[in-house]
Amino acid sequence: MKLLIDDAHIDKIKNIYEFYPVVGVTTNPTILSKIGGNPFDTLKEIREFIGEDAQLHVQAVSRRADEIVEEAWHIVETLGANTFVKIPAVPEGFKAMKILTETSEIPFTATAIYTPMQAFIAGQCGANYAAPYVNRIDNMGFNGLTVAKEIQQVFERNFMETEVIAASFKNSQQVLELCMCGVSAATLSPEIFTALVKNSAINSAVEDFISDFESFAGKDKTMLDF
Ligand code: E4P
Repeated sequence: MKLLIDDAHIDKIKNIYEFYPVVGVTTNPTILSKIGGNPFDTLKEIREFIGEDAQLHVQAVSRRADEIVEEAWHIVETLGANTFVKIPAVPEGFKAMKILTETSEIPFTATAIYTPMQAFIAGQCGANYAAPYVNRIDNMGFNGLTVAKEIQQVFERNFMETEVIAASFKNSQQVLELCMCGVSAATLSPEIFTALVKNSAINSAVEDFISDFESFAGKDKTMLDF
C-alpha cells in the first residue's frame, strides 16, 4: 500500500517526509482553504519540496466538464509531471474524465467516492485512482471500509488498472485493515500517520534496551564508543 499525506501545511508535510515512507501529497479545496492565499503558491511550494517524481493530487473545482478539462490542463501545466487532477465522480466529472482520456495523458483521480458504482464508472472512464471516503461513508451509516474493499474487488475482478486510494480516515486501524486487503494506496492526515506506530509498549521496549546497554557501557554510550 502506497502512503500519501492528505494535507497542505508544508511544515507538517516536511515532518512526515522526514520519518515515513511517502510517495506524495493529496489536497482538496477544503485542505487548501486552511492555508488560504493563492493555491498555486501553496502547491508549488509542496511540489518543490516533494520533487518531480512524487505524486501531487490537486482537485479541479469547476462544475462543467469542459471547464474541468481546462482546469486540469492548467493544474498540470503549472505543477508538472506526476500531478494527478482530482475530479469528482459525478456525471459532469465522468464526461471530463472521458475527454481527458481521449485527448491527453493527464493522470487523474476520481474523488468524492461513496459507492462502488461511482468507482467502477470512473475506472471505465480511465481514472488512475479512485478515492473512497472511508470516514465520511461511516458517518452516513454505512461501512466505509467495506466500500473501499468492494471497490478493490471491482477493479481486480474486472481486470481494471484503476487503483484505490482510500481517503478520509479516523484511525490507524482502518488503514491496517485496508492494507491487509491489498488496497493500493491510502492518503492520511499527518495525525493518522503518527498514530500508525504510536504505542507506549514499543517505546518502552526501546528505552529498556538503551538503558540495559548503558548499565554496562556507561551513560550516553553507543556501539560507536567501542
Ligand atoms: C481525499 O481525497 C479527500 O479529499 C479527503 O481525504 C477527505 O478527508 P476528510 O473526510 O477527512 O475531509
